[in-house]
Amino acid sequence: MSDITVHYGVGATIGGMDLRSLSDAQVDQIRSTLGNHGVVFFRDQELNEVDHISLAERFGTININRFFAAHPDHPEIAMVLKEPDDDRNIGGLWHTDHSYDHEPALGSILVARDLPPVGGDTHFTSMFAAFDALDDEMKEFCLTHNAEHSAHHAFGTEADGYGESDPEYEGRLGNAAAADELKNPIHPMVIAHPISGKPALFVNIAFTIGIVGVDPDESRRIIKTLYDHATQERFVHRFRWEPGSVAFWDNRAVWHNAMNDYAGHRRLMHRITIEGDPLHAAAA
Ligand SMILES: [Fe+2]
Repeated sequence: MSDITVHYGVGATIGGMDLRSLSDAQVDQIRSTLGNHGVVFFRDQELNEVDHISLAERFGTININRFFAAHPDHPEIAMVLKEPDDDRNIGGLWHTDHSYDHEPALGSILVARDLPPVGGDTHFTSMFAAFDALDDEMKEFCLTHNAEHSAHHAFGTEADGYGESDPEYEGRLGNAAAADELKNPIHPMVIAHPISGKPALFVNIAFTIGIVGVDPDESRRIIKTLYDHATQERFVHRFRWEPGSVAFWDNRAVWHNAMNDYAGHRRLMHRITIEGDPLHAAAA
């Protein structure tokens, strides 16, 4: 029987599982842990690339990333890479992946491949806890509004400091023209989580560009207020990577932030993203 340790802030570690040979009951246990705790961690795993792909397929269809460099032999795997002479990392700000899609990805399974001697931790924060802790007035506002999301400013040809147009990311990010083509989705500001039904705040500072029906300045102010609220330490867990570590997060329940504090060292992670479901508003 596997054991679960729930962390302060967000997330849970599941022990006693070999991710290469999960029973259906273990898959269900991981899925329900995601739905309740947002991110699941595993230690001491021995997944090769094919095992990683097989694991992801137990949870849904693999989403092949349009913007990150792919693994040379396995296009399902995105390479999250920072070389010793790169200054900036990928994902080094609070965000959730794929909120710019109409059906945002369920989440990603990240496997540590090449770690710096120290640093390179990933922070996660809970959108369940962040929503629960809002005051009644802000809860009511969020429950009754939708927001627009976009990838244009992050990955498009006009990207401001992150996309392919920035030489710092050459070879690591690409396909800016595809980002330009994406039609911006509108999502509820609070969703009923597709697995657990729990209300989760679904706004993020990286890809949410405005609240529908609210003027742009006011909208930016509210998004910033929510950002400051949701990044408080009480909702956060800092995950320290070790060889064999695996993190599986649910984009609909957590944000993540990759620390960039290992200058001069290489860090390579393999990421597989799994398709999501249509999102529905939490009941007001
Ligand atoms: Fe990310």
